[in-house]
Amino acid sequence: MNKLHTEVFGITLKNPITVGSGTYGFGENYKEFYSPTELGAITVKGMTMLPREGNSGTRGAETPGGMLNCVGLQNPGIDVFIKDYLPKLKNEGNIVFANIAGKDIEEFVEMAIKLENSQVDLIELNLSCPNVKEGGIAFGTSGEMVGLITRKVKEVTGKPVVVKLTPNVTDIVSIAVAAEQNGADGLTLINTLLGMAIDVDTGNPILGNVFGGLSGPAIKPVALKMVYQVYKHVKIPIIGMGGIVNERDALEFFMAGASMIGVGTGNFIDPMCPLKIKEGLERYLDIKGIGKITEIVGLAHRGGLTDGK
Ligand SMILES: Cc1cc2nc3c(=O)[nH]c(=O)nc-3n(C[C@H](O)[C@H](O)[C@H](O)COP(=O)(O)O)c2cc1C
Repeated sequence: MNKLHTEVFGITLKNPITVGSGTYGFGENYKEFYSPTELGAITVKGMTMLPREGNSGTRGAETPGGMLNCVGLQNPGIDVFIKDYLPKLKNEGNIVFANIAGKDIEEFVEMAIKLENSQVDLIELNLSCPNVKEGGIAFGTSGEMVGLITRKVKEVTGKPVVVKLTPNVTDIVSIAVAAEQNGADGLTLINTLLGMAIDVDTGNPILGNVFGGLSGPAIKPVALKMVYQVYKHVKIPIIGMGGIVNERDALEFFMAGASMIGVGTGNFIDPMCPLKIKEGLERYLDIKGIGKITEIVGLAHRGGLTDGK
């Protein structure tokens, strides 16, 4: 029996593991390490209506326990994705989660309409990207705006819609609730935290964009806390991510309330990271005598394991 088998958002998945959008491209670079079909689902790079070259200047910097990036949604545009990348991914047997970033509500709706007629399995709304001037984070910081975009997108698609939220807010719970009340099928928590770095030899900010998104192990406690907090207030499934690099990290997220987890920066540290997590989760369930991964979702809210399980 496959203990990692799960059903989320009405989709049957061989395991509850995906990747953070923007950290896995369209899966192509990872093929030399393992088949992307080993993942429960692939979440592809964030897409915009038109192709984007992304930001200029330095786009990444290492930080203690993490990294800063300001890639700026470099992508080939949604039409090229649908025509050139998606058919290949689907023919190979992948479950594909698309991640979209519109510049305004109309663009989110237009992109959702394009995806509605495609083979994409799920639409993730990136209402949280910190690295683009228009759109992005401004949407994700207002519950009203998050609710409105979610509702408008839901009106034009029958596909599951998951809303990816930014941690750069004072009250993530109210924004999560606004998404749920307006029809979101799920939430992805979290995107990167805003940060910066300065090169003391030149006295200048390192990133071309000055500010960037902080990701990796450094943000795990923040991400975990947000998943735990939001789980208490919503009924829809959560995809948890933020600093997951091994199975113990992943277990924490399931126990905090995530139904799926995503590996982001972990892919850059070790391309095999998601597969190692998968094997580690199987081992853990065997050692603890737990029949299914779903049994531990939200466990930290229910008094933890009993009977030494
Ligand atoms: C280089 C890079 C590019 C990213 N691009 C996107 C993106 O296009 N869309 C998006 O929703 N999130 C994007 N993210 C955020 C990740 O998907 C993820 O939410 C975040 O990095 C936290 O997870 P991690 O700590 O495991 O990396 C990006 C992150 C990184 C590091």
